[in-house]
Amino acid sequence: MMYQHSWGPPPTMSSQGMTLDRHILERQRAIPGATGDFTGLFQQIALAAKIINSRVRQAGLAGILGLTGEKNVQGEEVQKLDAFAQNVIERSVEAGGHLCVMASEEADDVIPIPEKYPTGKYVLLFDPLDGSSNIDVDISIGTIFSIHRRVTVGRNGALADCLQRGSSQVAAGYVIYGSSTVLVYSTGDGVHGFTLDPSVGEFFLSHENIKIPARGKTFSVNEGNSQLWTPGLRRWAEAMKTPKPNADGSMSVNSARYVGSLVADFHRTLLKGGVFAYPADAKSPSGKLRLLYEAAPMAFICEAAGGSASDGTRRILDIQPAKLHERTPLYVGSRDDVAVVERYLREG
Ligand code: AHG
Ligand code: MN
Ligand code: MN
Repeated sequence: MMYQHSWGPPPTMSSQGMTLDRHILERQRAIPGATGDFTGLFQQIALAAKIINSRVRQAGLAGILGLTGEKNVQGEEVQKLDAFAQNVIERSVEAGGHLCVMASEEADDVIPIPEKYPTGKYVLLFDPLDGSSNIDVDISIGTIFSIHRRVTVGRNGALADCLQRGSSQVAAGYVIYGSSTVLVYSTGDGVHGFTLDPSVGEFFLSHENIKIPARGKTFSVNEGNSQLWTPGLRRWAEAMKTPKPNADGSMSVNSARYVGSLVADFHRTLLKGGVFAYPADAKSPSGKLRLLYEAAPMAFICEAAGGSASDGTRRILDIQPAKLHERTPLYVGSRDDVAVVERYLREG
């Protein structure tokens, strides 16, 4: 009798064989007057994700661990993989004629489209590699992107095209380079996840119409900063750690989970429920996370999945950006769990 391994049949294409390309194309056909521009841009982003994924999976061998020795506009040390991912994304999307301007965490100013290429109606904002501090210790990292329609006219886009509210995003998404590589995106009508099958180099639909539970049992925050928090926030964290009685007399407790990569902490929160928090504190009065290419895309996705996202008092998607790299506190996840932390914050 042939030994039957216990982990089931080898992975095969999902029954529908629904690839990311086909999923986007079918959505585009449903949009009257859609020109294929969006589909083309998305295909280029997916290609960049595959290239970055391939390099992430061999970073230790490809001599691209560690630092470049430079600092970015954030004052953060640039990892070699940050710079690699930045370059891959720019090269993948600049020639397609779908964009009029880009902006990235790793670039001080807006990134114009080279003169030799045509320009288009979309704007791409991105964090090429999120969770950089985790690269050298082989913990999940990611890429985050946000797509807007341009608001200016003329060949080249401008800063004004980038400084749009999160509510005007056409689409937002992220790629998590974790135990598998998953691309999650939303155009506002549902949230869908695609897992990369490395044997064929395609993203296949694996998480259709993700909905975040109204409440979860996990809270995610860097408690190393808790001495810098407001008393209300410290009371919230204590409440999260206080066992609660169930109807049957048993007690239930929350789990604390913190990876230190927004993409990883958000992806777990989206799938399992709960709340992720990066508060403002005495060290970072506006919080650490950037509004345009971290908080706003995650807020767009979370709301499309039935959750919520605020800066503690305002809806993230309503915030009018004033600067490219402005930071914001972020509380994102299950609707009821975000409401609880907002209540503690109001207490001051
Ligand atoms: P990036 O690597 O793009 O700079 O982002 C890092 C961010 C985010 O991914 C994560 O949630 C947060 O930094 C973690 O910050 P702390 O290490 O201060 O907790
Ligand atoms: Mn980041
Ligand atoms: Mn980054």
